[in-house]
Amino acid sequence: MSLLDISPLRDGLPFGVRIAGMTRDMTSDPAIRGDLNALFRQHGVIIFEGVEPSDAMQLALSNMFGPLKEHPVKNVTRVDGDAMPGVVRIHSPAGSGGMVSLDGKLRSHWLPWHFDHAYNDELNYAGILRATEIVADGGLTGFSDGITLYNAFPKDLLAKIEGKTIIYTLNVQYENMRFGRPAGLEVVQRKPAPPGFEEEAKAMPRALHPAVWTRDSGEKVLHVSPWMCDGIVGLEDAEGDALLEDVCQTINRLSRELSYFHKWQPSDMAIWDNTRCLHAVSGHDPALDRSMQRTTIKGDYGLGRFENDADGGKILSETVV
Ligand SMILES: [Fe+2]
Repeated sequence: MSLLDISPLRDGLPFGVRIAGMTRDMTSDPAIRGDLNALFRQHGVIIFEGVEPSDAMQLALSNMFGPLKEHPVKNVTRVDGDAMPGVVRIHSPAGSGGMVSLDGKLRSHWLPWHFDHAYNDELNYAGILRATEIVADGGLTGFSDGITLYNAFPKDLLAKIEGKTIIYTLNVQYENMRFGRPAGLEVVQRKPAPPGFEEEAKAMPRALHPAVWTRDSGEKVLHVSPWMCDGIVGLEDAEGDALLEDVCQTINRLSRELSYFHKWQPSDMAIWDNTRCLHAVSGHDPALDRSMQRTTIKGDYGLGRFENDADGGKILSETVV
């Protein structure tokens, strides 16, 4: 690993590293691949800095961590057609998307803390992002680590939520967020949805994931997504709802200190473990265009399922970054 310059994501933060010096040639080196996977396993988030800002580099870097998972949404824009399968462009033109007012600022494309595919029985192992059109104001991607959250969580609250199963639904609208809404959040513009999307989403079975799970290493992960969670199995009453709200607001509160928000540069790429970390987006000035490119790495933790062992059919959508 001597070829790489490795440093903490931020001093004092218990997760995440930044790595400089990664070249495309190095992505085919088995020793570097092994070291990087071990680092990723240990730290949960890696920000690669100063890498070649190209689709080919994003693919090469992604392939080091596992096979790509094709994006489930057919009408999501692929980069370079079939030549770059699995690379998805996320373009947020000015004035598009959902818009909220938060902390006195108007923001488009804000996303609360979440893990991807919570509404599905199967998760993906990791996502890799890079920015191709960077906004001057906002547009930061946040990462919060479930192992760090578990270790920092109030023990009395942990005792109540550990062993519980969380219910998720594919419900992307801000105004339908039941738990963990930031104080003062106002919805200014609904998120656009394709015709028939919300009806199809409502017809999907509810997905179930453990609130806490244990990795092979023995480390425990608090893995609750405030976005799209809908209740606690066996506790769908006022008491259960109050508990889930407490858990989600505690995630929000702890993540103010224990998270990392990345301000993008063109030569950055970020990978995060979706079975361990939550991510969020700060949102940006609605007058600005923003574009990101993303790949998704296959690999499930195997602990999710649909309610009543239902067949979930296809995944309908994923709101990314
Ligand atoms: Fe996401």
